[in-house]
Amino acid sequence: MNSSEIRVQFLLTTCLLLFVFGSPFVFADNHGKQEPVSFHKQIFPILKRSCQGCHHPGDPNADLIVTTYEELKRGGMAGEAIIPGKPDDSLIIELITGDPPAMPQNQEPLSAEEVALFKRWILEGAKDDTPEEVDNIGEANYPSYTVPPVVSAMAYSTDGNTLVVSGVSEVLLYDTKNYEVKARLVGNARRIQSIVYTLDGKTIGVAGGSPAQFGEVQLWNAETNKLIKNIRSTFDTIYGLSISPDASKVAFGCSDNTVRVITVADEEEIVKFDNHSDWVFGTVFSKDGSHFVSCSRDTALKLVEVDTGSFVDDVNSSNKGYGEINAIARHPNADQVMSVGEDRVPRLYKMFRETRRDVGNTDFNLIKAYEPQGGSIDAVAFSADGSKFATGSSAGEVRIYNVADGKKLLTLPGDTVSVFAVTFHPDGNQIAAGGFDGKVRVFDAISGEQLNTFMSVPIETTASMEITLAVSGMT
Ligand code: HEC
Repeated sequence: MNSSEIRVQFLLTTCLLLFVFGSPFVFADNHGKQEPVSFHKQIFPILKRSCQGCHHPGDPNADLIVTTYEELKRGGMAGEAIIPGKPDDSLIIELITGDPPAMPQNQEPLSAEEVALFKRWILEGAKDDTPEEVDNIGEANYPSYTVPPVVSAMAYSTDGNTLVVSGVSEVLLYDTKNYEVKARLVGNARRIQSIVYTLDGKTIGVAGGSPAQFGEVQLWNAETNKLIKNIRSTFDTIYGLSISPDASKVAFGCSDNTVRVITVADEEEIVKFDNHSDWVFGTVFSKDGSHFVSCSRDTALKLVEVDTGSFVDDVNSSNKGYGEINAIARHPNADQVMSVGEDRVPRLYKMFRETRRDVGNTDFNLIKAYEPQGGSIDAVAFSADGSKFATGSSAGEVRIYNVADGKKLLTLPGDTVSVFAVTFHPDGNQIAAGGFDGKVRVFDAISGEQLNTFMSVPIETTASMEITLAVSGMT
């Protein structure tokens, strides 16, 4: 035996000894003061991981929803899936145990331990110990970060004094004089996908959601930083928030391929537009708020009338193979929309058609196609006067162009990996970018000089955590 074989032998013996002498204690413990199975801590995480994808409220297979205890208890098409006290009579046990188990359908079966947990939980009465839903919204719940989150959305306030940056479950308000955090607005949505100000600058709109749970629009008073309201919609993250010019309505895109328009005052859904065939990533209102344009992964830009919710026109010719459209921005002073996405080419369109469609489906609404970017484009923004626009791409670049003649003015290092958010300061002299590496970079939009770089959120290092613990332990 060489030394490594001896070591293996030793390990095996140790394991055997542990098995022989260790297990009786485990059993003794099991029969003694064993804790009942917790639905919240032990069962729900399994449902979430292995079952929710097909049994969520958006499109529940066999009418069974497992995202809350109440829904699970209600059962599905075949009736109750759980009979408290009787695991052997419970449909859910039948389905997760067969050979091979029917559920989770076409996926890795649950482990023997997990099945045993389900059985024991039902045997013990299938009790609910879900804590009351904690409302995250509030100052006391600042998230803490050990790694930088991706920056997915940013916006300058209309007065230019604030830069709003996405975090996880919150947006952070930075003072643009010293780049210190002025406020943190914590909401329920984990993911923040868009941040926009109303035209009057009085309200900050934030949209996002928690995947497979809910979409959320938050409206915050920009002066007091208090939540005005949060509006939930659909069962997934929502995208591309826009607010009507009079701030009376919000529009956004959804992963169920719809665009929704909701009134702010009474939260009534006045439009559910379902003419797209893939996720909708962006919406913009026309100048007078009578129409909106939406963009989608299905490559189309669609014009819709707000009052009737009816489809008016395909703005672009989506048979041209332009690829998925990731974002749109409206020209600040005109009914024109810039579309960007997979094929790297920014395109400026008239929202309203002036030349009738022809058989070749010519892109008649196209005003200008700009030079291809270094990568797929995820972010686009106009300067406040509408003379320039900027793109952020998966090449990690921000580029600034003249709208009128398409001249490239600057190429900036917006992110070390990929840019997801870009925004012009209202005076046009500064531009901020954020993306994959979690840093915010601010540039002079004329000279291209990098003015500031900072982490989008406060990161807790292990060292500072230990210090906090030590200090709180002493008090
Ligand atoms: C890939 C999709 C998928 C996953 C994942 C999945 N299911 Fe299902 N489930 C289905 C479909 C489809 C049906 C309907 C089956 C049928 O009618 O034959 C179903 C039916 C059921 C039913 C019967 C409901 C009724 O009343 O008819 C139960 C119970 C169930 N699933 C439990 C689970 C559990 C528990 C998990 C996770 C461990 C799970 N499922 C994961 C797709 C899925």
